[in-house]
Amino acid sequence: MLGVCYYPEHWPETRWAEDARRMRALGLTYVRIGEFAWSRLEPHPGQLDFGWLDRAIDTLGSAGLRVVLGTPTATPPKWLVDRTPRMLPVDREGRTRGFGSRRHSCFSSATYARECERIVTLLGERYGHNASVAGWQLDNEYGCHDTVRCYCANCQEAFRAWLQRRHGSLQALNQAWGNVFWSMEYRAWEEVELPHLTVTEANPSHWLDYYRFASDQVVAFNRLQVDLLRRLSPERFLAHNYMGFSTDFDHFRVAADLDVASWDSYPLGFTDQLPLPADVKQRYARTGHPDIAAFHHDLYRAVGRGRWWVMEQQPGPVNWASHNPAPAPGMVRLWTWEALAHGAEVVSYFRWRQAPFAQEQMHAGLHRPDSAPDVGFFEVEQTARELMSVKLGATLRAPVALVFDHEADWVLSIQPQGKEFQYKSLVLEWYTAIRRLGFDVDIVPPGASLDGYPLVLVPTLPIISDAALKAFEACKGRVIFGPRSGSKTAHFQIPGGLPPGPLQRLLDVKVTRVESLAPEMTETLDWQGRRYEARLWLEHLDVGAVIEARFSDGKPAVICNGRVHYLGCVPDSAFLMDWFEVLAREANLAPLRLPEGVRLRRRGGTTFAFNSDSVPWRAPVPAYARILLGDGMVPPQGVCAWG
Ligand code: GAL
Ligand code: ZN
Repeated sequence: MLGVCYYPEHWPETRWAEDARRMRALGLTYVRIGEFAWSRLEPHPGQLDFGWLDRAIDTLGSAGLRVVLGTPTATPPKWLVDRTPRMLPVDREGRTRGFGSRRHSCFSSATYARECERIVTLLGERYGHNASVAGWQLDNEYGCHDTVRCYCANCQEAFRAWLQRRHGSLQALNQAWGNVFWSMEYRAWEEVELPHLTVTEANPSHWLDYYRFASDQVVAFNRLQVDLLRRLSPERFLAHNYMGFSTDFDHFRVAADLDVASWDSYPLGFTDQLPLPADVKQRYARTGHPDIAAFHHDLYRAVGRGRWWVMEQQPGPVNWASHNPAPAPGMVRLWTWEALAHGAEVVSYFRWRQAPFAQEQMHAGLHRPDSAPDVGFFEVEQTARELMSVKLGATLRAPVALVFDHEADWVLSIQPQGKEFQYKSLVLEWYTAIRRLGFDVDIVPPGASLDGYPLVLVPTLPIISDAALKAFEACKGRVIFGPRSGSKTAHFQIPGGLPPGPLQRLLDVKVTRVESLAPEMTETLDWQGRRYEARLWLEHLDVGAVIEARFSDGKPAVICNGRVHYLGCVPDSAFLMDWFEVLAREANLAPLRLPEGVRLRRRGGTTFAFNSDSVPWRAPVPAYARILLGDGMVPPQGVCAWG
């Protein structure tokens, strides 16, 4: 269940066999290679050198390792770029992005797509049936370094064609976007441009269509490689490694063409970069925020329809965050067990050995650049040993579903209305509140069946598709909607009957006005005789439904219609937890309040406890249960499992 990312092209060939032997000795099974190696596979146009890769795969395979082979399309070599300069992406400011790092290609470039087709075909023909190749990783982290949205001439042209397919006529487009406003009406498709470089903000409908288009380009780019490899390597799995907190394209749609989803887990880097309160950042600087990895595990389990890996696991300090502390002792082991508890098939560490050269020379690996084992190595060794004695069962359905939608993030970022009202923060707050009550969570895309979930959380879903509405209507459990749900039509307009639009089929409420507040401007929230705080966002609700909580002026803040609840503000975390706790009880679930940094997760008949706090925690191990890992006292950075 463990693997590692390895770059044979970075090291003398004489070292490969020893590396492979040590990988096996460490208890690793998988090794991912090749994803950035184009300049070594094709040093000159058309002059191929696969000899070294043959030998690398052979060396790793002979040692008993299973290879995951990357396609090198995230790093086109210099000669290729120079021959086809129109493949270079253009940023939002209109500047061409140059060669010299990675992802310097536009998803709409037909010339680049043909080059990708060529190299992937050659790789597929050569290794598609290789006994040591277990599967493929297509490209690397689509969208990393802000590369989904490109503003080049290829994109402009492709966007126009996309709009024609979507809207049919210009009249329909003008109507859908409301282009009568500010005299923005178009008379010909060639008049429609990309929405960047306008004097003030461009039309949000224009932006949203452009975001959708850009997402579709990634889906199409991925599908090209899928189609080739399905034909040339039909027996091997196809995967992609998604980057955490990246939402610029629809990961569910890309994964619909793949067999396995995987993601790259760097809990400390993400904790440093997220807009978290300073004290939270400081508390979790060496452990990572306790929900960051867990949330992504649950997300990619959904994206991969049950089949998912951690393709890159942080093994030590990284190089790319603003600050790069070392993980607290035990965290590499904890992160590994946590991923497995959430259902990962494989956890693969990034990388085998720290590179002494180039951009990532400050990024730790399992070994130091001098080949001595680094700190992470010993934690992997321990985990591999422990894995031999803990049997992992099947991943069961969680009691709580949380609806996650990439498009929701696009809508809120196109029109934040209040600067701090951000989709990712909102989702993480809801996720944290429900996880601190001890629950496992399944993340689901809108429109997926909600059958069998007693509790469904929808932090927000501005655009409600017909499929999503049907799923909400069919759900027998409690459904909880957050602010701005149902607030936009598919074309990014305010619904005729006012928000929450189509959700009025479930809720007797009309949002008549919204306010956004600066962080220091708070409102009180009265619920069951207790006072909480509302922040950032307030809605004025005109209700026929039951009022659950009120603002200080007595106006409704939280309402419900039978099993459907709606929250017209962003409450503090205390309210979210207290309220969810009551709703969970009403749904016949048994919440268990956990300390701030402790989380539980079940897999099969086993329950795992993870402690990111600085004090030990006594796990609630029932008398009949057997302890499988650790003991009942979970130390800081410790893991305990029972079942
Ligand atoms: C990932 C990427 C890897 C490496 C790693 C460093 O985003 O896929 O190639 O750059 O980050 O943390
Ligand atoms: Zn482009």
